[in-house]
Amino acid sequence: MTTHKDIYILGIESSCDDTSAAIIHNGKKLSNVVANQEVHKAYGGVVPELASRAHQQNIVPVVQQAIAQAGIDKEQLSAVAFTRGPGLMGSLLVGTSFAKSLALGLNIPLIEVNHMQAHILAHFIEDEAQTIPNFPFLAMTISGGHTQIVKVNHHFDMEVIGHTIDDAVGEAFDKSGKMLGLPYPAGPIIDKYAQEGNSTAFPFPKPKVPGLDFSFSGFKTSVLYFLQKQQKQDPDFIAKHLKDICASIQHAIINILMDKLKKAVKETGIKEIAIGGGVSANSGIRNALKQGESSYGWTTHIPKFEYTTDNAAMIAIVGYLKYLEGDFTDQSITAKARFSI
Ligand code: KG4
Ligand code: ZN
Repeated sequence: MTTHKDIYILGIESSCDDTSAAIIHNGKKLSNVVANQEVHKAYGGVVPELASRAHQQNIVPVVQQAIAQAGIDKEQLSAVAFTRGPGLMGSLLVGTSFAKSLALGLNIPLIEVNHMQAHILAHFIEDEAQTIPNFPFLAMTISGGHTQIVKVNHHFDMEVIGHTIDDAVGEAFDKSGKMLGLPYPAGPIIDKYAQEGNSTAFPFPKPKVPGLDFSFSGFKTSVLYFLQKQQKQDPDFIAKHLKDICASIQHAIINILMDKLKKAVKETGIKEIAIGGGVSANSGIRNALKQGESSYGWTTHIPKFEYTTDNAAMIAIVGYLKYLEGDFTDQSITAKARFSI
């Protein structure tokens, strides 16, 4: 019998407005602590300066909690993995500096992680609540900050084949919701109302974007004009038709995503599909993927919600995969706000 070496990876994520730390042990999650920054709610979006300060406040207690919850001592850590980018520079600097210092202090390897790769590789966390995709597969990362379709040949052999040329899909949900008077983030609320509304009540035009790229800014404008026009005729239009409006908006957004995904399947011949990012919680996209399974023979993978929004377990699993390959980084590394896959 071969003896199995215990590998414990600490992951640190601080690219946007969540401070997170997690421990992965041989591919399995022991802890995944996320401190959400409530401070941004009043502004209806993330304020970078406030995010950096909140990270600085949260990072030490969050890491301590992740280690304690995992039931290990920091001396047992094999390596420290951190988000190098992409993200907000001030936010990234907090996690990067902390990770470098800790790795130096403990005299263990440091591992840089690309946040967008991590959203995809989150599927490789061994957890009975999710399934691991087979290579090659198509990954669609959809959140408040990202909208991408990526062809994944292997863990670290990825190619972005489509991305948004303006807003992210989560922004399309959140900004439409703001026009309806819903609080931020509006995505989950639109989803809830949509399930009780008529999705064909109000048709919205589809943006014409070539290839596999996305655009949501024109969609946002069409929602605005539609609401303005209707409210001129009836000032209570939104209140009277909220569920139907939400269902119609969601239907239109999901159609935009699914059109491109179907096109990507056609162009690549790959029918194995994994989604990630906060918007993958949406009931419309989940139903559409299920339909893809029955109608087109797709195999789809939806991650556990915990691993789909920004979190450090996804950073730690990438750390683990890189640790197995001996892919370490040196102490001169710097954060990178723009960082492609
Ligand atoms: O991944 P995430 O937590 O953070 C980043 O943006 O990186 O994603 C948050 C986004 C927000 O735009 C939120 O409105 C959206 O995900 N979201 C949803 C749902 N749950 C979260 N959008 C539509 N339907 C949902 N059920
Ligand atoms: Zn993200």
